[in-house]
Amino acid sequence: MAQHNPWPDEGNTGHIWDEDLRELDNPPPLWWMLSFYAGFIMIVFYSLYYPTIPLTDGTGEFTKGMAEWTQVEEYHDDYAVLKDWRKAKFADKEEKLAALSVDEIIKDDDLRSYAVATSKVLFGDYCAACHGAGGQGNPNFPVLADDDWLWGGKPAQIEASLVNGRIGNMPAKGMMGNLNEQEISDVADYVIALSEGKGDDAAYAAGKAVYTKGMCMACHGPAGKPLAPAGAANLTDQVWRFSSDRAEVINVITNGVNVKKDGQYIAGTKQAVMPSFKERLPNADVNIKRLTVYVHALGGGQ
Ligand code: HEC
Ligand code: HEC
Repeated sequence: MAQHNPWPDEGNTGHIWDEDLRELDNPPPLWWMLSFYAGFIMIVFYSLYYPTIPLTDGTGEFTKGMAEWTQVEEYHDDYAVLKDWRKAKFADKEEKLAALSVDEIIKDDDLRSYAVATSKVLFGDYCAACHGAGGQGNPNFPVLADDDWLWGGKPAQIEASLVNGRIGNMPAKGMMGNLNEQEISDVADYVIALSEGKGDDAAYAAGKAVYTKGMCMACHGPAGKPLAPAGAANLTDQVWRFSSDRAEVINVITNGVNVKKDGQYIAGTKQAVMPSFKERLPNADVNIKRLTVYVHALGGGQ
């Protein structure tokens, strides 16, 4: 900064850099000042019009400003618009879902993909807690994503599982409830051998005889594979409804599944109830079909 001011009359502030770079003392342009005042007025207006000052009126309601505007309301309004738009856009598909049978929906590629895509949230809300997010099952809740079915994987069977619910029943200690501990231990070994494909080994002859005595075949079929799906597990595969652990197998045979006495579950019995969704789902007529298509498409549909 130089001390000497060679331009005393031009209204500079006396600040000079690099020999001739001066700071002048001109008023700002009019347009700039007008914008400045307009901005200030806008701030006042904005503060009054929109919810700016975070005061409550004591009831938990916040100041909403003169416009009574809230972000949440705007969100709800926009969401309603989006919903209406979606409804209009997919109205024909929803109508078709309502009108067609599950078999017909599955045959229509476009409609099937639509049903599957729109099922994910529903499945998450109503089914995943028990069956896992992708139908992969949870301890004591069956896998829906494989081809091992208790009640059948045909569309009509899956639909019936959803509409009416399902309750598997297996009596404790064989059909007549008369198997002793030794017999139960033998038949448990036989059942485990069945799942490993060794059911015909001589070592398991005793258990095989108990299988006949306990009338296990009435539900599990003559060789461990149910003749028709009616809730009983297939004992010849590696897929365990409960557990392959020997102690657990013994427990299932000893205390059965859903066995009640005087209206109460007996100790140790497996509780396995699939609730009915006829009344539970919103818009159940269409949504049960939708979910049936979804479960059928999870991988094991027949
Ligand atoms: C409260 C837990 C629970 C909920 C919620 C639930 N399920 Fe189930 N589900 C079960 C149980 C337990 C079984 C097995 C019943 C049995 O062992 O007989 C089952 C069985 C089924 C079956 C028959 C499986 C087979 O192998 O044949 C289907 C299909 C099914 N559920 C679909 C669904 C769908 C879809 C939903 C959601 C709308 C749902 N479940 C919600 C507990 C549940
Ligand atoms: C009245 C029909 C019925 C009879 C009789 C019956 N079971 Fe079961 N059993 C079932 C049902 C139903 C299930 C599956 C329950 C479910 O998943 O809800 C089952 C499940 C099992 C399981 C568990 C399988 C797994 O994958 O975890 C074993 C083991 C078993 N039964 C063995 C036997 C043996 C051994 C006998 C004869 C002593 C027998 N059951 C008699 C209906 C029966």
